[in-house]
Amino acid sequence: MAGNFKRFDPARVPSPCYVIDLTKLEDNLKLLQSVGERAGVEILLALKAFSFPGAGDLIGRYLSGTAASGLYEARLGRERFGGAVHTYAPGLSAANIEGILEHSDHVILNSLHQWQRFQGQLQAASGVDFGLRINPEHSEVAQPLYDPCAPWSRLGVPADAVTAEDLAPFEGLHVHALCDHDFDAFDRLLTAVEERCAHLFGAVRWINLGGGLLITEEDFPVDRLVERLQAFRERTGLKVYLEPGTAVALHAGALVAELLDIAENGAAIGILDASATCHMPDVIEAPFTPELIGATALPRGLAASEADDLTMRLGGPTCLAGDVVGTYRFETRPQIGDRLVFLDLAYYTMVKNTTFNGTPLPSIATWDARTDTVEIVKTFGYDDFEQRLG
Ligand SMILES: Cc1ncc(COP(=O)(O)O)c(C=O)c1O
Repeated sequence: MAGNFKRFDPARVPSPCYVIDLTKLEDNLKLLQSVGERAGVEILLALKAFSFPGAGDLIGRYLSGTAASGLYEARLGRERFGGAVHTYAPGLSAANIEGILEHSDHVILNSLHQWQRFQGQLQAASGVDFGLRINPEHSEVAQPLYDPCAPWSRLGVPADAVTAEDLAPFEGLHVHALCDHDFDAFDRLLTAVEERCAHLFGAVRWINLGGGLLITEEDFPVDRLVERLQAFRERTGLKVYLEPGTAVALHAGALVAELLDIAENGAAIGILDASATCHMPDVIEAPFTPELIGATALPRGLAASEADDLTMRLGGPTCLAGDVVGTYRFETRPQIGDRLVFLDLAYYTMVKNTTFNGTPLPSIATWDARTDTVEIVKTFGYDDFEQRLG
């Protein structure tokens, strides 16, 4: 969805550059805030998706706080985003437990064993609520890489392995089992949770239902979600939290790249200054092909023999053979030096990037589509590459 980016001039930023559309981000936040208020639930930003401190104040104005994956995100949530900090990590360690307790309001453990191991420090912490992650063993995610409920998953304790007595030290439950899902998947998950965790609801005060739900996607049935959450709250008496990541920054960011060269190997190959493996690794892991303004994404497996004059495979400047962003059919054949705008690359990109091959990190800019104001928030140079590895 090109949205506001149809009006963005990529020549206004250095290349490559992540550009965050503050207008769309705020629209998403307004929608999430209204869902939270209408449904009577608290909504947190999952920092793992989008820990961009430059938007911390804005996000803090609309959401109840942040969900952190460990010490660094907890501290960032506390210092730069505001609101409550809810931290869940698959493993706490002697090295990070004190810091996590200092910066968190909720700490969610992945196992009962972790409670036993750190009991002394956990009990001594004041003002921290503890929760336990439950694995509802209900798979909605087709791909094992992203399925927290895949067989032999390390994420959460299977619901039937926990008793109400086990929950004595805990105030809440945590469940996360979705990834880029719609309301129907959430509805099925919640039904599974209601069945499998019914014996635990009386022992806790709250439940965190995780993220993975595309609440801010066009046509998402917001009213149905509100009704489902209200009914669940009324039936169980539990306080409810949601912690979306993707939905917060959905359609609110682009990656600008420059075409460095056009090679030929059966069909045209464009070499970019942005890399799939360094700057948008989910493109390879998931895999998926990001939308590109002025072009249509073609199937990833397309053979060169199926390409026409307007078809180009675009890839990065690294040595990795599979550093391919995608294959596209352009409206007009791009030229060396052109700027390209890949869409919807705000989340799980800036937070995951690397300097593999010494590839420079993209700059970060914000763009306010209402006022057409661009601000270059951060640029990176050789020092960032050198200092990371000592
Ligand atoms: C525990 C937990 N909460 C929340 C999220 C956020 O999910 P999403 O960004 O898909 O909304 C994730 C994503 O992996 C997660 O693991």
